[in-house]
Amino acid sequence: MKIGINFYSETGHTKLACEDLAALLKLKGHDVSLHEITVVDKKSDKTLKDIPLMEGFDVLILGTPVQGFSLPIPMVDYLKKVKMTKKQKLGILVTQYFKVSWMGANHTIKQILSGSAYATPDLYGYGVVHWSSKRREEQLHKVIEKLSHMDS
Ligand SMILES: Cc1cc2nc3c(=O)[nH]c(=O)nc-3n(C[C@H](O)[C@H](O)[C@H](O)COP(=O)(O)O)c2cc1C
Repeated sequence: MKIGINFYSETGHTKLACEDLAALLKLKGHDVSLHEITVVDKKSDKTLKDIPLMEGFDVLILGTPVQGFSLPIPMVDYLKKVKMTKKQKLGILVTQYFKVSWMGANHTIKQILSGSAYATPDLYGYGVVHWSSKRREEQLHKVIEKLSHMDS
């Protein structure tokens, strides 16, 4: 399958997780490409710079951190600019600091779902990595494994 992983990352956590995911998907024989959503300046100007398209993939995976219990502003802006096509499957990978998903990831996922498609997106999987958890590596492994199964 042709898979695009479009992600935003400020300190590298989400980027790392998406890179690991891409590596596994490639091992499984998929045609995978990673695309970073970037801003002019992470500290002073969060205007979008690189705005990768969502089109052209059978499966689109969006990667994002949580900021302020929500989807980061650049991701909100990104979802306003670029849309999925109706035939695509969607996967979501979220990283957050706190150990429980109600401290941001749940709301973040809802925001992606309401903003990422014209109709209800065909969500095949999602997962959260709690970066401060002692079980982070295990969580990352589970999320990646889950997102590598598109037929469920
Ligand atoms: C401005 C800001 C706000 C944040 N807010 C939250 C939050 O509400 N809940 C949470 O669990 N983590 C929060 N975090 C932590 C990040 O979600 C976490 O470190 C994430 O893994 C960072 O991913 P990144 O390195 O890809 O940017 C916040 C981080 C920043 C910089």
